[in-house]
Amino acid sequence: MGMAMENVKDILKTWLPIDGAWSWLPHASSVTTAAVDGPFYFLLWTCIGLFLLVIGPMVFFVIRYRRKSPSQKALSQMDHNQAMEVAWTVLPFIYLAILFYWGFVGFLHMYKAPSDAKQLRVIGQKWQWTVEYPEEGISVSGQGAVVVVPIGKPIQLKMSSQDVIHSFFIPNFRVKQDVLPGRYTSLWFEATEEGEFPIFCTEYCGDQHSNMMAILKVVSMEQFLDWVDKMKNADQGIALKDLGEKLYTKKGCNACHSVDGSPKLAPSFKGMYGKKEKLTDGRTVLVDDDYIKKSILDPAADVVMGYQPVMPTFQGQVSEREILALTEYIKSLK
Ligand code: CUA
Repeated sequence: MGMAMENVKDILKTWLPIDGAWSWLPHASSVTTAAVDGPFYFLLWTCIGLFLLVIGPMVFFVIRYRRKSPSQKALSQMDHNQAMEVAWTVLPFIYLAILFYWGFVGFLHMYKAPSDAKQLRVIGQKWQWTVEYPEEGISVSGQGAVVVVPIGKPIQLKMSSQDVIHSFFIPNFRVKQDVLPGRYTSLWFEATEEGEFPIFCTEYCGDQHSNMMAILKVVSMEQFLDWVDKMKNADQGIALKDLGEKLYTKKGCNACHSVDGSPKLAPSFKGMYGKKEKLTDGRTVLVDDDYIKKSILDPAADVVMGYQPVMPTFQGQVSEREILALTEYIKSLK
């Protein structure tokens, strides 16, 4: 498991603690959270109140006025009370109308992103999130990817999936939206405080669903611009092997390939280079530069015996330099 995933797990530890004993939801950190939390707590506490109001007297009456001897008979029964009937019709109507209005206004607020929202693209794929910053020309991806956004700026995510249905969820922001292969969906948020917040996939999408996590890091606008600068220059001047090691988690290779020889969904990178591998169709290949490149771009072509052809293609998602970097990294894992 890569460093990035360890970071996510650290954040998870600080995520759940909730703001005090009366709070049921994780700490709220976006401008639209009140649209969820308000109706939720209103519903929760009024229901708890009504439950006690109905069940309490009922239990009391059952005990206090229970039948004490077999010959005991009820003296009179009440079969109609106009005032009560009007009350229990009108009061719930008012209650539900309040809830509906509150929920609907909140829904509209959360549904429609402000027109000045910054747009990011999100791609879901088994089993990682990729977030593209079209204006900046950068992207982050991989399990445990750190998605950096500025505070106080509306951010709209336009999302699609490369394979199955995923769902993008930031609990602290109360936003969750399915990410579909067939069409674009979107959500928006505006962070109200700096910090790191977990991003989950909340639609079961296969073996590694529970590891399909990332981190949303909210920083000041200045820090955001610094980060963009760094990202733009990050891969220049870095040794191929070191870049390969970064890409290993960034591109999500770590989901299926270990680097310590332990078996996962795919062959471990450790000691792979220079090995002869038997393929599912009976052929034998030498793991060299050509084989690695082919396996990145056309993974289904030469599948190693004993494994399923589950790897997605990285055609168009890795540069020539990145392929070289991954090759050098694999080569270094003796
Ligand atoms: Cu993607 Cu669950």
